[in-house]
Amino acid sequence: MALSDQCGDHTQRVLDILSRFTSAFPQGRPSAVVQGQTRGDVILVTGTTGGLGCNILAHLCLDPHVKKIYALNRSSPHKGLEERQVEIFKQRGVLEDCLNHPKYQLVEARLSEPLLGLNTELYTEICESVTHIIHSAWSINLVKPLDNFEDCLQGTRNLIDLAVASPQLTIPKFVFVSSISAVRNYSGVSVPEEPIPDPSVCFGFGYSESKWVGEQIVYHASQSTGLRATSVRVGILCGDRNGHWNTSELYPSVVKSALELRYLPNTEDALLPWIPTFEAAGILCAMRNSEHPVLHLESPNPAVWSEVFGMLAKELGVSLMPDDVWLSLLQDYSNHGDLPKAERRARVPAIDFIPYLLDVDFSTYRYQGYPHVDTSKAVQVVPMLKDIRITEEMVTKWVNHWREIGFLPRKETLRAVRSKL
Ligand SMILES: NC(=O)c1ccc[n+]([C@@H]2O[C@H](COP(=O)([O-])OP(=O)(O)OC[C@H]3O[C@@H](n4cnc5c(N)ncnc54)[C@H](OP(=O)(O)O)[C@@H]3O)[C@@H](O)[C@H]2O)c1
Repeated sequence: MALSDQCGDHTQRVLDILSRFTSAFPQGRPSAVVQGQTRGDVILVTGTTGGLGCNILAHLCLDPHVKKIYALNRSSPHKGLEERQVEIFKQRGVLEDCLNHPKYQLVEARLSEPLLGLNTELYTEICESVTHIIHSAWSINLVKPLDNFEDCLQGTRNLIDLAVASPQLTIPKFVFVSSISAVRNYSGVSVPEEPIPDPSVCFGFGYSESKWVGEQIVYHASQSTGLRATSVRVGILCGDRNGHWNTSELYPSVVKSALELRYLPNTEDALLPWIPTFEAAGILCAMRNSEHPVLHLESPNPAVWSEVFGMLAKELGVSLMPDDVWLSLLQDYSNHGDLPKAERRARVPAIDFIPYLLDVDFSTYRYQGYPHVDTSKAVQVVPMLKDIRITEEMVTKWVNHWREIGFLPRKETLRAVRSKL
């Protein structure tokens, strides 16, 4: 089949999925519209057991304009929600003041089910009082195809339905946490802070496609119901206040792999508009009253790849090499190493990202494979965004944290191993 036919089929599949979640939006406001009785924001936030979500929850707890927070999360068969929330707060170095803060109520929910899986009483209480919805929960998986994200898409639709059913005079504001990957194939100079109706901008990964469909559901809802909504396209989040950065993600994996490969990749002229998670969460919360349908959340003042990777290389005692040569080295290691495959992947976890790395054209885009995104509206809404940039202190914090949790060897161990070689 010709490539254009395959693209056409895929476009149709993505649009079909979108149309399933945009049909029959409720028309008109509920008959008994009331003036909100509350002074202060009442916020429904999803996914607070996740990295970004727990930092959002922390900011909301400390915000004097916020009166009450409903933190909706799925349940786990292994642990209670309270325990999971405190654990993630501690793991991510969230301020002590937020642990068990009286403002938030943890709620076990099934977002994709009718009434979000809540009893009618609680659903009605939330629906009647909520002033903002921040929807952060999402499945983060770069391998699954779009069909596997239907529960996330249904959850988004159900949250919109809750907002639209609000009896308050002012319809709740909906903030959808999107990703710059939703526009990963944008071919213009800079992605505008606007909805992009062409689905091909997101093609390549079910995850990026799901975020594009999510944005479009939200946008269609605002067009046909009057929902006030902003999709915030978040860039790469690079670690918490205590230096925690999920070791299963791409860049931590590249760093760990350097110990075995002895090299880190260097992409000439590339820039890193990464944002630390706590700051990103604060900015996202500050965007909650914006009237823009789309905002971008990444650093307009990006760090230089060779500087950041230079700092990492110094910490690890390894060298930099051009990214294409590094990628060949990684592939060779993956295919021909003397060790069993599982051992190779443990030592060089970047192996798991080879399909993604092969798909990314680092030479075309200066932003680690993503197009440049405009942030001028975001900076207008939250001026502090322009001051955020990776510092040497952050880089040291990541490395120290990875050493503390045993992801990287301690300096002394590394020196002892190297001296024997
Ligand atoms: N991290 C980044 O660099 C980055 C970049 C761009 C955008 N984002 C967006 O930011 C948001 C938060 O990401 P994160 O990095 O904080 O991810 P994370 O740490 O994996 O947290 C994801 C959260 O979503 C929940 N979740 C996952 N799948 C779910 C499902 N099928 N139904 C209901 N809840 C589900 C998780 O619950 P459990 O704890 O039960 O698993 C967790 O609370 C996501 O929308 C993501 O797309 C993140």
